Amino acid sequence: MRLRTKFNLVLILACVSGIIAATGLTYQAAKSNALQEIENEIAIIRANALAVRKYTSTGVKPLLSDGNDILFLPHTVPSFSAQTVFSYFSSSFPDYYYKEAALNPTNPDDLAEDWEADLINQLRADQSLDRISIIRETDAGRVFAVAFPFTITDPSCLDCHSDPSIAPAAMIDLYGSENGFGWEMGETIGAQIIYAPMALADKRAADLIVVIMLAIFVAFMVVIVLVNLMLSHIVLKPVAMMSEISEQVSMGDFSAPEYIKKGSDEISSLSTSFNRMRRSLDSAMKLLDD
Ligand code: HEC
Repeated sequence: MRLRTKFNLVLILACVSGIIAATGLTYQAAKSNALQEIENEIAIIRANALAVRKYTSTGVKPLLSDGNDILFLPHTVPSFSAQTVFSYFSSSFPDYYYKEAALNPTNPDDLAEDWEADLINQLRADQSLDRISIIRETDAGRVFAVAFPFTITDPSCLDCHSDPSIAPAAMIDLYGSENGFGWEMGETIGAQIIYAPMALADKRAADLIVVIMLAIFVAFMVVIVLVNLMLSHIVLKPVAMMSEISEQVSMGDFSAPEYIKKGSDEISSLSTSFNRMRRSLDSAMKLLDD
């Protein structure tokens, strides 16, 4: 196998293993970056929902509450406004999801689906958890879902969610007395469930990997071309010349010009020694001839 082929084989091997190693490492980093990005999106959606809830209870409720308990406006309920605002938001971003899911909800629309109930039950079982994150397959693709517990810490919640007899009559007229009652202080009754699509983040991670692979490939190509040029210029050409001359000299033909390679590297000193040897051989032959 020729020297150039050997060198190139080693370089190509290094290039392939470099690309494989870099891709593996980048994939891990890109994946955790993508998840981090989705978690940030979810944190923003949650902060917005909490802001709407707060605005409803501090800004809207005092203005719209009916002191005579004749009319009950759902618009004064934080959960109603947070979910209604989100339904408008999701007309622009249909892949995102927000739900205040409960095991025993006042509004049947808020009834937890099976997978949501699983998360709520896990949060109920371990009150120290401040969230549970999972990756789910949906019809629209993979999503990253996070459940944040709804735990009753404020006694005023029980005005409407403990016993139907103490809840506002106008609310019972609207929602009935069957659901959304019997909640207790300290109990985790449901969860804020939010999910965001993973498709965009997955694509960004894949794009990043392609860019990094290309960059490494180009860098290796430059190295391969440079090493080949240097190999040719510094080693292969001089060695080929010297081998051609020694071929002629070995056949007794001393007419070939001396090959002189300038410089201080090993090939230059080889060429100097080679010339010296050739001259000695030449004079030895002449002595013999005499
Ligand atoms: C004035 C009565 C009232 C009070 C006080 C109240 N809620 Fe509600 N809550 C409701 C009503 C009515 C709904 C259903 C709203 C709808 O139609 O979406 C609801 C819905 C909810 C939901 C969504 C699940 C479900 O039951 O449909 C959660 C979670 C919730 N409330 C938590 C709380 C918490 C926590 C507090 C205390 C900070 C609280 N609520 C205080 C009346 C009340």
